[in-house]
Amino acid sequence: MAVCPVLSLLGLLLLLITAPTSQGQACPQRCDCVPQSKAVNCQNKRLSSVPNGIPLDTRLLDLSGNTLRWVEHGDLAAYVNLEELDLSENLISVLEPNAFSSLLNLRVLRLRANQLKLVPMGAFSHLANLTTLDLSGNKLVILLDFTFQDLRSLRNLEVGDNDLVYISNKAFLGLVGLRELTIERCNLTSISGQSLSYLRGLVMLRLRYLSIVSLEEQNFRKLGGLRGLEIDHWPFLQYISPHSFQGLNLSWLSITNTNITTVPTGALRSLIHLASLNLSYNPISVLESWALRDLVRLKELHLVGTNLVSVQTYGFGGLQQLRLLNVSNNRLVTLEEGSFHSVNTLETLRVDGNPLSCDCRLLWILQRRKTLNFDGKSPVCAAPVEVQDKALNSFSDSALFDHFTCQRPKIRNRKLQQLTAREGQVVSFFCHAEGEPTPVIFWISPQRRRITTKSTGRIIVLPEGTLEIRYAQITDSGTYICIASNAGGNDTYFATLTVSGLPLDAAVAANRTYYVGDLNDTNLNDTRVFLKFTLDLKTILVSTAMGCITFLGVVLFCFLLLFVWSRGRGQHKNNFSVEYSFRKVDGPTTSGGQGGARKFNMKMI
Ligand SMILES: *[C@@H]1O[C@H](CO)[C@@H](O)[C@H](O)[C@H]1NC(C)=O
Ligand SMILES: *[C@@H]1O[C@H](CO)[C@@H](O)[C@H](O)[C@H]1NC(C)=O
Ligand SMILES: *[C@@H]1O[C@H](CO)[C@@H](O)[C@H](O)[C@H]1NC(C)=O
Ligand SMILES: *[C@@H]1O[C@H](CO)[C@@H](O)[C@H](O)[C@H]1NC(C)=O
Ligand SMILES: *[C@@H]1O[C@H](CO)[C@@H](O)[C@H](O)[C@H]1NC(C)=O
Ligand SMILES: *[C@@H]1O[C@H](CO)[C@@H](O)[C@H](O)[C@H]1NC(C)=O
Ligand SMILES: *[C@@H]1O[C@H](CO)[C@@H](O)[C@H](O)[C@H]1NC(C)=O
Ligand SMILES: *[C@@H]1O[C@H](CO)[C@@H](O)[C@H](O)[C@H]1NC(C)=O
Ligand SMILES: *[C@@H]1O[C@H](CO)[C@@H](O)[C@H](O)[C@H]1NC(C)=O
Ligand SMILES: *[C@@H]1O[C@H](CO)[C@@H](O)[C@H](O)[C@H]1NC(C)=O
Repeated sequence: MAVCPVLSLLGLLLLLITAPTSQGQACPQRCDCVPQSKAVNCQNKRLSSVPNGIPLDTRLLDLSGNTLRWVEHGDLAAYVNLEELDLSENLISVLEPNAFSSLLNLRVLRLRANQLKLVPMGAFSHLANLTTLDLSGNKLVILLDFTFQDLRSLRNLEVGDNDLVYISNKAFLGLVGLRELTIERCNLTSISGQSLSYLRGLVMLRLRYLSIVSLEEQNFRKLGGLRGLEIDHWPFLQYISPHSFQGLNLSWLSITNTNITTVPTGALRSLIHLASLNLSYNPISVLESWALRDLVRLKELHLVGTNLVSVQTYGFGGLQQLRLLNVSNNRLVTLEEGSFHSVNTLETLRVDGNPLSCDCRLLWILQRRKTLNFDGKSPVCAAPVEVQDKALNSFSDSALFDHFTCQRPKIRNRKLQQLTAREGQVVSFFCHAEGEPTPVIFWISPQRRRITTKSTGRIIVLPEGTLEIRYAQITDSGTYICIASNAGGNDTYFATLTVSGLPLDAAVAANRTYYVGDLNDTNLNDTRVFLKFTLDLKTILVSTAMGCITFLGVVLFCFLLLFVWSRGRGQHKNNFSVEYSFRKVDGPTTSGGQGGARKFNMKMI
């Protein structure tokens, strides 16, 4: 502020020097006039009202930065040639109806940063030539119906930075020419589909800094011409309905700085012409397989600063034309080639700012380090220690295979695990593997179900790889296969379980019968439970075929067959033929998993 008096003094001096040259034309005392362009500049002149002496043919009038408090019809009525009027940064709190109604040629009207609380109906009436209206930075609380109804040529409307809590359903009626709309920094908690539905010509919609919690169905359904939609800084946004973008044909979409934790796959489904998608700064930690599968024309994807930890296999599946990927500033340890639909379309890749582990999974980037555009920011290795802090584009060709390797998993402690348990007991099988990168461990059950650390229910895999079966059932008997796998390959290991049909105690049995009550064919899942003694022939065959036959198993099998046969006596013929295939017992040293089919023919007399 200290320099201001000096500056205004200088300005005054300049004014005194230049004043005589513009003589002959009327000009308000404190303003600068440029007769050639018919412009009058009264910016920052501490004017408290529209000054006298403005030439009647003025086209551009700048009254910004003064202390005007209101605008009445009479103030400006004479200046019918005005095309641009700037009233920004005044103290205007009252606009009279028809305040501008004689300015038929007005094209640009700026009322930014005033004190407007309400725009009365008719304030902008007759302004059919207006193309730009800036109402941002006021104190508007509500936009009334028909506020803008005469503004059919309006192309840009700024209503940001107000205290808007409500936009009336017909507020935008008449704005058929509006191409761009920005609504920002309001206390709006919803945007009704109906109020937007009048904006048929809208091409770009920016909605920033709003307190909206969810995007409901068909919010934008009538905006068929919209090409770009920006949703930025909605800290409370958590839910995007699968139909919220229905009716839109966007080529550009940005949903950033919100609270969504997953990619809104369902909502994106209809946007088949989308070329650019920005999902930066949302707490999306995992990009799931095929999450963007319908965006077949997408060329640019930005997922910056989302705390992304992993991109699953085919995370970018479906993106057949992806050219630019920006995943900088995340927590990715790797970015595998298998995540992409094809890495051959990729031209620009930003993956810097991630704790990358430079092993075989990044080999594909290394091989392309001379042709890929890293946008000036080459990825940097965070591990292993020998290459820490080394930029990928600084590796020489010869170093290519010294680093960037993986170590195939090796399952340690291959002790034979052949357990016999009673019904209802807890059974654990160990499976620990070493490898680089750390192998993922999952198990295959005798029923060929995949059990991973994410499985829930009675049979789970603990984080370090141990399989845990709670309340063991007879049907759990069989061979379990542990598979440890990483980018370098996989290793397998087999364990067998035999559950005998004697319950541990009555309480557990009681508990189990409680389960049985609500079990039927359609809700069989991981927590399968079966009636205690429904040991039919099918069950025996399945569990036998899937698993291995221990000696005990064979004996039990025969006894049970005898049991079944004796119970079915009279209905069955004496000749009994059983045909099945089974897997060879896989000892601790064999890991090939070779199985052989055999045929058994039994005769029962
Ligand atoms: C818009 O401006 C043109 C001149 O630029 C003028 O001829 C026309 O009358 C104006 N339209 C209206 C509705 O006043
Ligand atoms: C939103 O409302 C709160 C009070 O509920 C107020 O403090 C805040 O200034 C408002 N923000 C805007 C942008 O109007
Ligand atoms: C964002 O979501 C998390 C839960 O997912 C919640 O705890 C947090 O309060 C939300 N933040 C805001 C600003 O709503
Ligand atoms: C959607 O937009 C694309 C251009 O981005 C255009 O080629 C296509 O015809 C539009 N489709 C419809 C149904 O308007
Ligand atoms: C994506 O959104 C973020 C946050 O709004 C912004 O900073 C960034 O510039 C956007 N990126 C592109 C390419 O538009
Ligand atoms: C990628 O994101 C970073 C922000 O982390 C930004 O500075 C950069 O311009 C973006 N690059 C491209 C090519 O979009
Ligand atoms: C294990 O590796 C082999 C080849 O090394 C591969 O064919 C097989 O699909 C892998 N199995 C799993 C479950 O990853
Ligand atoms: C029955 O099982 C549930 C868990 O499945 C357990 O919490 C409960 O203690 C059991 N009750 C008895 C009587 O065993
Ligand atoms: C099985 O249970 C499901 C719900 O768990 C139910 O909808 C279905 O009708 C049941 N089926 C039979 C055959 O009882
Ligand atoms: C399995 O079924 C039980 C009851 O039938 C149900 O409570 C449970 O949620 C189901 N689990 C899964 C993973 O579907």
